[in-house]
Amino acid sequence: MTSPDSKTGVAAPAAPPVHPATPGSGAVLGIESSCDETGVALFHPQRGLLAHALHSQAQMHAEYGGVVPELASRDHIRRLLPLVRQVLADAGATPAHIAAVAYTEGPGLAGALLVGAGLAHGFAFALGVPVIGVHHLEGHLLSPLLSARPPEFPFVALLVSGGHTQLMRVDGVGRYALLGETVDDAAGEAFDKTAQVLGLGYPGGPALAAFAQSGIAGRFSLPRPKMASDDLEFSFSGLKTAVVTTLRKNAVDAQGRADLAAEFQQSVVDVLVSKSLRAVEASGWKRLVVAGGVGANQRLRDCLGRAAAGRGVDLYFPEQRFCTDNGAMIALAGALRLKAAGHAGAFGVRPRWDLGTLAAA
Ligand code: KG4
Ligand code: ZN
Repeated sequence: MTSPDSKTGVAAPAAPPVHPATPGSGAVLGIESSCDETGVALFHPQRGLLAHALHSQAQMHAEYGGVVPELASRDHIRRLLPLVRQVLADAGATPAHIAAVAYTEGPGLAGALLVGAGLAHGFAFALGVPVIGVHHLEGHLLSPLLSARPPEFPFVALLVSGGHTQLMRVDGVGRYALLGETVDDAAGEAFDKTAQVLGLGYPGGPALAAFAQSGIAGRFSLPRPKMASDDLEFSFSGLKTAVVTTLRKNAVDAQGRADLAAEFQQSVVDVLVSKSLRAVEASGWKRLVVAGGVGANQRLRDCLGRAAAGRGVDLYFPEQRFCTDNGAMIALAGALRLKAAGHAGAFGVRPRWDLGTLAAA
């Protein structure tokens, strides 16, 4: 029942029902909707990941050559509730098992984020449980903790996604210090743009990686931007331009395009490997974690694996399925934050949000 507010005349919402589950003792529902993937998961602090489901909008955006924000928002609206039902069914759970709802508060596309925020807040209010706004990059950073062999804190993290390329010092949940980042394009963005130049369509990263398998790196020579510099900065925008220039100056056949793709991939991988190991050496720690969509790249995994082993560095990747955007990492980050502090988030999204401003848990 609602009663009109005496001052405004607007019906005030009834108090939410009291929920039997206490924070930290039940499952956390995680909702990811920052870009073109709708992800939902149920994570239990003691029992681990109970279920997760994902819908990729890649096919829908493919004909436009990139993400169309309005279409992304509308599709999140269509997908979210069925995915929540699916996850609850897969976990053998009911809404009564949910102790908190975590959602990606930012950064990301404003409209897409609002869809997840709306559902999370509405759901949490109806259940009478806390709602937790999660930083998308914190989700990526903590995603290796979902693995059978999780890293211990502290570690150095290479965060390589479509929007970010950063080296971070991670001392604990919420204790992140930026060591270096890209001055222009992110690694994933470079993959996407170069894939487009090579006519491989969208999404570019996986398509380019697959295409590069039939090519040979070294037949064309591309730069290794900033690899020799002492800092921990990256720059990938010139690499795409170098690919464009190579295509313009040479008669490149299909095999040549594959060779160029392989050289491009190797260039990005060489730079990422070199800078990551430099950051690990500077930190004095022997643990390196790679997270974000580009972490799914097999060439990066192989090259970094060899280089890390040669220097006695322990290397951790999230499982392949949790490298790109997903609800599991949001549910996990929500659970870790909930454990640390009883949370009651205000409704909102943060399309732009600096990870460095997060408080420690
Ligand atoms: O982390 P993510 O799913 O979304 C963001 O938060 O940005 O990362 C998506 C990025 C895209 O740029 C995509 O092309 C790239 O990760 N990516 C890959 C691979 N799989 C995804 N890049 C290279 N090789 C891959 N196998
Ligand atoms: Zn992401």
